[in-house]
Amino acid sequence: MSVLSGKKIVLGVTGGIAAYKTASLVRLLSKAGAEVQVIMTPASHQFITPFTLSTLSKKPVYTEFFNSKESGTWNNHVDLALWADLMLVAPATANTLAKMAHGLCGNLLLAVYMSAKCPVYIAPAMDLDMYIHPSTAQNLATLTSYNHVIIPAEEGELASGLIGKGRMSEPETIVAVLEASLSKDLPLQNKKILITAGPTYEPIDPVRFIGNHSSGKMGYDIAKEAVKRGATVLLVSGPTNQKIEDSRVHVIPVISAQDMYEVCHQYFDEVDVVVAAAAVADYRPKDVATQKIKKKADEFSITMDKNPDILASLGAIKKQQYLIGFALETENEVEHAKEKIVKKNLDLIVLNSLNDTGAGFGKPTNKVTFIDRAFHIEPMELKSKEAVAQDIVNKIMQHYE
Ligand code: PMT
Repeated sequence: MSVLSGKKIVLGVTGGIAAYKTASLVRLLSKAGAEVQVIMTPASHQFITPFTLSTLSKKPVYTEFFNSKESGTWNNHVDLALWADLMLVAPATANTLAKMAHGLCGNLLLAVYMSAKCPVYIAPAMDLDMYIHPSTAQNLATLTSYNHVIIPAEEGELASGLIGKGRMSEPETIVAVLEASLSKDLPLQNKKILITAGPTYEPIDPVRFIGNHSSGKMGYDIAKEAVKRGATVLLVSGPTNQKIEDSRVHVIPVISAQDMYEVCHQYFDEVDVVVAAAAVADYRPKDVATQKIKKKADEFSITMDKNPDILASLGAIKKQQYLIGFALETENEVEHAKEKIVKKNLDLIVLNSLNDTGAGFGKPTNKVTFIDRAFHIEPMELKSKEAVAQDIVNKIMQHYE
């Protein structure tokens, strides 16, 4: 999920040839989960139609203060400005930049800009000579002094045929600037978190395995919550149907406990936090048949080897890392969880018991108890796994406070 998800964005489009790129820009912002309200200057209609942008943004596009005489309604610039979490003017022509810098507000877009209290981002676009004109430089400096973020124009071939600086930044770049800028104030911005999720499958033969009921939801929800707070996430995932699409989450799919062990050790040095939500098989078949095992005798047994305990092996070598384990218990829950804290050298354990209705595998809810190294016990209510993930990420944040 992008940090833009759920953000309300006013996109101001002004009259330059780069306005054609706003179709992609609206698509990318919407794809990132943002709600986009397009406001156009009258001149921009020459370069892209309001119909195109309204279709892509799934909202009416506004240009004029007043709607038709029959409707007797107007577009309230103050309401539009206060609605926005951020305002982006792209492309911003030399004309609009000058008016923004000097407080002229002769169209709806400029009036919304003057009323905006949210962060403002400006992506200029114009011909080379206009871009390097001292007045443009001065206007950009003035707008920077208002704490607006200028997304600089790029070098390249311009619509005039000249080659130089003036092309509006590509929509992908603009979206990346917005994402980076919104992430920078998030509390876990500089933290890298390794999360294990899902079951492991221990092969018996080419068609069979020993697995468990973990759906992966708990681990994926923690990953989603961690990126919302600015962290970068390495998600080491056993086989699952869970999905996550976010540039800040690197999903590394694994099958067996041995695979998971290797990946966790490969990345352990570079992470700040580990959250082990995976249900890892403690044993694996000693011999894996190369061909499908045929049905013969009435009884069939499999000799098992012990898998490495991934979490305990990380606990044994940890330096600065904050280690959170889970404990899935069916009896003597608290005692077993405490033993795991010590044995695996954990900082915190998240205990869930299959004796609690709504807790554990597969369900959308969980009921957990936090136990820390000092054996301080904090039982939580039954909650959605999303809410449990928030509690776990709160614990990580408290550690860094
Ligand atoms: O995936 P869901 O359907 O949403 O379900 C979530 C869950 C029930 C799987 C999750 O909440 C959970 O409890 N995960 C841990 C399950 C488990 O394996 O518990 P355990 O008590 O056996 O293991 C203790 C800890 O050691 C766990 O953090 C586990 O990841 C880790 N471990 C266990 C064995 C092993 N060989 N290596 C490990 O690292």
